[in-house]
Amino acid sequence: MQIARTLEMLRKRLDDLRAKGETIALVPTMGALHEGHLTLVRRAAAQADHVVVSIFVNPRQFGAGEDLDAYPRQLEQDSRLLEREGVALVWAPSPDVIYPAGYATNISVGGVSEGLCGADRPGHFDGVATIVCKLFNQVMPDMAFFGEKDWQQLAVIRRMARDLDLTRPHVEAIHGVPIVRETDGLAMSSRNAYLSPEQREQAAVLPRAMKAALVEMAGGEAAEPALESLRDKLLASGFDRIDYVDVRDGDSLALLEADNGNARLFAAARIGGTRLIDNMPLS
Ligand code: PAF
Repeated sequence: MQIARTLEMLRKRLDDLRAKGETIALVPTMGALHEGHLTLVRRAAAQADHVVVSIFVNPRQFGAGEDLDAYPRQLEQDSRLLEREGVALVWAPSPDVIYPAGYATNISVGGVSEGLCGADRPGHFDGVATIVCKLFNQVMPDMAFFGEKDWQQLAVIRRMARDLDLTRPHVEAIHGVPIVRETDGLAMSSRNAYLSPEQREQAAVLPRAMKAALVEMAGGEAAEPALESLRDKLLASGFDRIDYVDVRDGDSLALLEADNGNARLFAAARIGGTRLIDNMPLS
């Protein structure tokens, strides 16, 4: 496995991989890899000849006061995990390689970027769209894999790829991979590492309470009473703040008052300084 730190190294290695006409899958990450990321890598390896994993903590998707400085950076440990998975190439640029002096371009996706995390984290999805567009242009993979925990992010990336005609030839397929959960149901996230043991126990209430809300909404019941009891349970169990609990259409992300057959429950809530997100289908 090689680790490319410059665009020249990346392009040279990609040319070598492509020389035999073999396919390349990209798994974009910010590192601090866990089983959820490794599941993406395995899905990618099942569908492409070579897997390229990017590791870049993208400053442009962190707002003022967010955890950019604290975000775990552990390239050596991540590389060991990826080597074991048979990854061909790790793309680990530094911020000045991605955003050299004078960098001035921003990609902003309307519609699906608004609401949910877009409302609480202004500019976040511009940062995501910008870096993912750059990664697609740099790697030009045949396919790319993203976790469905960040459902809205996936919707933003798909919209951006369609709107900017990136789906061919750069990325023929953008795949979403279902959420990987801990045994108590908490969605895996690099940010779970910020939780104290007590907060970690409280965090598991999020998926449990969401499942209970799904049961309340089953059969097309109005969403609001179930969302109200979900909010109450989270606040009673130690969450300090709820950013949102919404039912929305899984594709357009438009707000819904009850299941339309394609509805998902979305939640974001904070314990101390840690913001946790999750989403589940209603049916
Ligand atoms: O989901 C993430 O880890 C990041 O948002 C991504 C897609 C790698 C872009 O920085």
